[in-house]
Amino acid sequence: MRWKTGILTVGIVGVVGLLVVMGTSYVADRHAGEEQLTGPPATPELVARGAYLAKLGDCAACHSTPGKPPYSGGLRMVTPIGAIYTTNITPDPTYGIGRFSLADFDRALRFGVAEGHTLYPAMPFTSYYNTTPEDVAALYAYFQQGVPAAVVLNRPSDIPFPLSMRWPLTYWRWLFAPKPTPFQPLAAADAEVARGAYFVEGLGHCGECHTPRAVTMQLKATTPKDGSAYLSGAVIENYFAPSLRNGGTGTLGDWSVEEMAQFLKSGASSKGIAFGSMSDVIIHSTQYMSDGDALAAAKYLKSIGNDDAGKAGPFVYDPAVHTALKNGDASKPGALAYLDNCAACHRPDGLGYERVFPRLAGNGVAQAGDPISVISIILNGASTPRTEGAPAQFAMPSFATRLSDQDVADVVNFIRSSWGNHASSTTARDVARVRKAIRPNG
Ligand code: HEC
Ligand code: HEC
Ligand code: HEC
Repeated sequence: MRWKTGILTVGIVGVVGLLVVMGTSYVADRHAGEEQLTGPPATPELVARGAYLAKLGDCAACHSTPGKPPYSGGLRMVTPIGAIYTTNITPDPTYGIGRFSLADFDRALRFGVAEGHTLYPAMPFTSYYNTTPEDVAALYAYFQQGVPAAVVLNRPSDIPFPLSMRWPLTYWRWLFAPKPTPFQPLAAADAEVARGAYFVEGLGHCGECHTPRAVTMQLKATTPKDGSAYLSGAVIENYFAPSLRNGGTGTLGDWSVEEMAQFLKSGASSKGIAFGSMSDVIIHSTQYMSDGDALAAAKYLKSIGNDDAGKAGPFVYDPAVHTALKNGDASKPGALAYLDNCAACHRPDGLGYERVFPRLAGNGVAQAGDPISVISIILNGASTPRTEGAPAQFAMPSFATRLSDQDVADVVNFIRSSWGNHASSTTARDVARVRKAIRPNG
């Protein structure tokens, strides 16, 4: 009977161990953050500053859903273990965050803890952790005084028990979330670059999409100090959010500070036009940036160097493909499909029409390390974001039904290797995989 006692002992130790692990996380979540915080009185100026910061943080992208009161939550977000829903952050005392103290709000925003439990990192506290106390107080004032209360019930997640238990999130947070610390500029940094760093690394949460993640889902870097992974580009929802580091092939190294600022404010620059989830970022968030903040963000991005920046050299336009097309030679694979489907807008010379149909020659997005953005935009089509700075809207049609996987692969390889472009090639199998991911049911 010895082995039975052995199993029993292991079982008891296991259960007690698990209870300790869960209990520790429970106690830790209760005590995250500061217990006492006092903010300045909620003057109209403070509420207005909070409204602006809420735009910069793009809180509406996730906490507002069309057809429902602003900030009343309910957006479905898919995680590997099931869907979760964003919460009501209006000041309703029962359904929203009306009962949150400033300290409770700070805990949710920077520590990722609310109502005694750790939040899913779908809420980007992993970027917001650097927000200064003054800005947390302004956001709090806005969400308590500037937003109408809405009686909308939070929707529980679709994650099945026991995966729905939150204690593992506490350990994830300990291991992987950056330690909440108000932003401190580097001693030598230019004041404008520092202002841009505070926004890009923090409320702007650019890294949540533009920085690659480790297998355990944390961002590989949250500031340039963490190494060259920071903003080096990542796949997000079947698009490739390109490298925002300065220099090298497939980066936006040839964008000037002014072009980058213009892009953030209007969704279009002479070098590129936003599509995919970047359009939403522009529409809900960055188009509201002040000119000064947009320029500061652009200056900061230009200050993040890239190791291989020097190797590639500047883009040099190569007229050979255009000359061949002009002389009726469309023998290069993909050339015919390009002439039939794309050239009317992007032109046979690949130069497009400025701020209307983007140029593909020398385009960093078209030449990105991963061709998935080009595949997805051909399959999905796109329309340019309509903003105050670019009120007219132009569209690219979807080619999902017109072009086979092989046609798409050929045209992708054509634009990635013409007019001086140099980028890796793709195959019909890669296109089939993206097609399936975009429309799982055909
Ligand atoms: C990318 C999506 C996303 C963005 C952007 C976002 N949130 Fe969230 N937020 C979430 C999700 C998802 C949850 C719920 C997480 C959970 O249930 O664990 C959440 C939870 C919260 C909570 C906890 C509320 C509660 O009822 O417990 C607060 C407060 C909050 N967010 C405030 C904000 C503010 C303020 C901003 C803008 C500065 C913001 N969020 C931006 C996704 C987002
Ligand atoms: C929700 C995910 C997401 C966030 C957050 C995000 N981006 Fe993007 N971004 C993308 C995707 C996807 C693309 C590729 C589509 C495209 O090129 O427009 C992209 C493209 C870009 C481009 C290239 C545009 C072009 O078409 O040439 C720039 C510049 C850019 N992002 C800057 C930023 C900055 C600065 C921030 C932070 C303020 C940011 N992004 C935040 C997803 C995101
Ligand atoms: C009717 C005009 C039209 C046609 C035809 C067209 N496009 Fe586009 N294309 C656009 C517009 C407009 C955009 C900008 C969309 C946006 O950013 O939302 C765009 C964007 C792109 C981009 C992203 C470039 C960037 O920097 O934003 C690529 C790559 C692209 N098109 C490739 C193609 C290919 C390949 C074809 C043919 C299979 C094609 N397009 C056909 C109008 C067109």
